[in-house]
Amino acid sequence: MCDVKNIKIALTKGRLEKAAVKIFESMGVDTKELEDKGRKLIFHCENDLYNIDFFLVKAPDVTTYVEYGAADIGIVGKDTLLEKNKEFYEVLDLEIGKCRFALAALKGFKMDEGYSRKKIATKYPNVAREFFRRKEQDIELIKIEGSVELAPIVGLADAIVDIVETGSTLKENGLVIIEEICDISARMIVNKASMKTKREEVMKIIEETSKIINK
Ligand code: PRP
Repeated sequence: MCDVKNIKIALTKGRLEKAAVKIFESMGVDTKELEDKGRKLIFHCENDLYNIDFFLVKAPDVTTYVEYGAADIGIVGKDTLLEKNKEFYEVLDLEIGKCRFALAALKGFKMDEGYSRKKIATKYPNVAREFFRRKEQDIELIKIEGSVELAPIVGLADAIVDIVETGSTLKENGLVIIEEICDISARMIVNKASMKTKREEVMKIIEETSKIINK
């Protein structure tokens, strides 16, 4: 048993998972179980330096676990942080999971053509609302849960606000970027109370992580 305080870390399932696990592996944490996890949801990793419980949840849930203190630390995309304004510290840009928010539509579509309010489909209504508010453009938002690129193809919406990583989903569906909104990458977030009560352990993880991302 090591005598460092236990730290709970909520990781985002899916796309970010591999790169995030790799960061902890580079810090000397034994992540074997996390790499070959089956249906297990929580993984205890302990050595002389770290005493960590990792768990894997969906991105919006990472912010919930950290806000309530069920996780001390979370790894989550800036897209989720921009959409869900919650209470915690955002301490590090991990420079993984790099992508961007963009406004996209079928080739030939123009936002300023015609008089009717344009319909915008998105998984990120707050991000989209803020984008159009800044542009002083009156639009109608349609919340979609996934495969947003489909919406303009079948006539549900005129355009979409979504994440673009490689651009292949847009390309394969005949959509193009109309305007880039902002860059996104994964962030480390910390529960406000944990920053005080487990300061030493939390700071060690922040410092070691920043060494790895700056290598
Ligand atoms: C995201 C995003 C785009 C796609 C972009 O969806 O919403 O659809 O990835 O990636 P690309 O530019 O590399 O093609 P995700 O695969 O996470 O799932 P979803 O479509 O169910 O939302």
